[in-house]
Amino acid sequence: MCGIVGYIGDKQAAPILLDGLSKLEYRGYDSAGIAVFDGSRIIMEKVMGRLKVLDELTEGGKTMPGISGIGHTRWATHGSPSDTNAHPHFNKEHSIVVVHNGIIENYSKLKKKLERKGYEFVSETDTEVLVHLLTEYYDGNPVAAIEKVMRRVEGSYALGIMFKDHPHHIYAARKDSPLIVGQSSMGNLIASDVPAILKYTRSVYYMENEEIVCLSKENIRFYNIDGEALVKEPVTIDWDIDAAEKGGYEHFMLKEIYEQPKAVRDTISPRLKNGEVVIEELGMTDEEIRHTRKIIIIACGSAYHAGVTGKYILEGMARIPVEVDLASEFRYRNPIYEEGTLAIIISQSGETADSLAALREARNHGVRVLGIVNVVGSSIAREADNVMYTWAGPEISVATTKAYSAQLAALYLLAMKFAKVRETITQEEFAELQKDLEKIPEQIEQLLGMKEKIQRFANRYLAADHMFFIGRGIDYAISLEGSLKLKEISYIHSEAYAAGELKHGTISLVEEGTLVVALATQEKVYSKTISNIVEVKTRGAFVMAVTNEGHEEIEKTADYVIYIPKTNAYFANSLAIIPLQLFAYYVSLGRGLDVDKPRNLAKSVTVE
Ligand code: M6R
Repeated sequence: MCGIVGYIGDKQAAPILLDGLSKLEYRGYDSAGIAVFDGSRIIMEKVMGRLKVLDELTEGGKTMPGISGIGHTRWATHGSPSDTNAHPHFNKEHSIVVVHNGIIENYSKLKKKLERKGYEFVSETDTEVLVHLLTEYYDGNPVAAIEKVMRRVEGSYALGIMFKDHPHHIYAARKDSPLIVGQSSMGNLIASDVPAILKYTRSVYYMENEEIVCLSKENIRFYNIDGEALVKEPVTIDWDIDAAEKGGYEHFMLKEIYEQPKAVRDTISPRLKNGEVVIEELGMTDEEIRHTRKIIIIACGSAYHAGVTGKYILEGMARIPVEVDLASEFRYRNPIYEEGTLAIIISQSGETADSLAALREARNHGVRVLGIVNVVGSSIAREADNVMYTWAGPEISVATTKAYSAQLAALYLLAMKFAKVRETITQEEFAELQKDLEKIPEQIEQLLGMKEKIQRFANRYLAADHMFFIGRGIDYAISLEGSLKLKEISYIHSEAYAAGELKHGTISLVEEGTLVVALATQEKVYSKTISNIVEVKTRGAFVMAVTNEGHEEIEKTADYVIYIPKTNAYFANSLAIIPLQLFAYYVSLGRGLDVDKPRNLAKSVTVE
């Protein structure tokens, strides 16, 4: 979603803003703009399209002098992508300028009122009401005007604001959209995410909801919505900018696929101690684990798919009922909350608007919430009762890979912990699981070795119109993720189906040459899946099967087979997903698409 950067210091602002915005490109955007105070007035450039257009237009920022400014990459919500709708937005006098991330839900009511007062709107955006409201309330005190605006608007926002008659300050505010403040020796910064400012500082403040900040070259002052000064402590970012760079890979996605052994190892190792699963951050006593009556897993997209796997594993291993829900459904479905329910919110970014709202919904009903989150200090991490971090490191590609794998690893640990405490598995079974769990990183490495083979296969399907992914049980969960990975970056229509369900309608779409990817890693239902493969083959499908080593007889049925190393059936997802990620990557690459920044998508979905 939109990205915000702001800077005030002793260096020229525009190149810093452009550089910061380039580090936020992964979030997804369709236009970009910057505004700087040039010594006598606020000047602005904004254009539709890629950041490089803005970069060329301003000669890397050189044509825009000034040591303070704000910048923005826009992912269109209200109003199509265009130069006019791009941020920043000025008031008529060009004395106040705003960049905004989020959605102002009551904008049309506010717009009508402002129009009645004579304010003229030039864009189709919801953001423009903010700049006119600020103009309406501004009487020389920026913080007071921002407070008043915050009280009038409904929805979510992270804001960067400049006032022409306060040239030595930039301002920011947030509610339900991420915003951080960086403190450095060359000045101070605001940004939507850490990579934008990591080159300049490791010292970062996380803004909370309804906070305002005023930055000058030397000072950072925080206020609450009542204008009272706040004392906040910075945190030190302990990862390196290299972690957020491509490091010689053609795309972030490929780099992140290759980082999966490490992401899984880093998530598992600190929690396996002396033959036990130790998850201190779970904050639950054995008694509380034993008395947990139900788990609700809530998430979006791939994190939801990890949750679907989690349901099979937690129910199978720990014999505890698990519901899995899409956050956008959960938050409005009026669920039944029983005593002894644990809600688990899974999120890479920790900022997904629907997941955050679902978390609040559950907490408001007295449900304990555990966050499984990748981004340290993110909103979900801060608002959950407890947080279990996945240690995947920064993930930049819109299509998640390593964070998804780390989420699976976290769920395995959780299921093993619950199973052990609830005595639903024996000590021997636990020891076996632990042995298999520890092997996963090197087995992933082994699978990465088949990248050329997958690329050759992918190249045969560059012109495909649609595909199917089928499987049963955990294989169905893998299908969901394999299918999403493919469609989001290749734009080939693809559906995931529970293999046994296909014949209830969807099989009518299978015709001569349709590619069906069949997951057959679950021994319990292996023969059933084979029957489903035969069904689609009979209708002319070309079948690529993913199964366990030792099932070579499948070659009599499937047209193309990928074998995964032996592991416990519960952990098969971690291995079977690797060829599917590589397949999606190479199809996208072969079709000449923007692998890391697929159209219409954003990395962090901070609006509903
Ligand atoms: O940051 P989150 O894990 O909460 O994001 C959830 C989804 O938006 C995300 O997994 C999305 O589906 C990815 N593009 C999938 O690759």
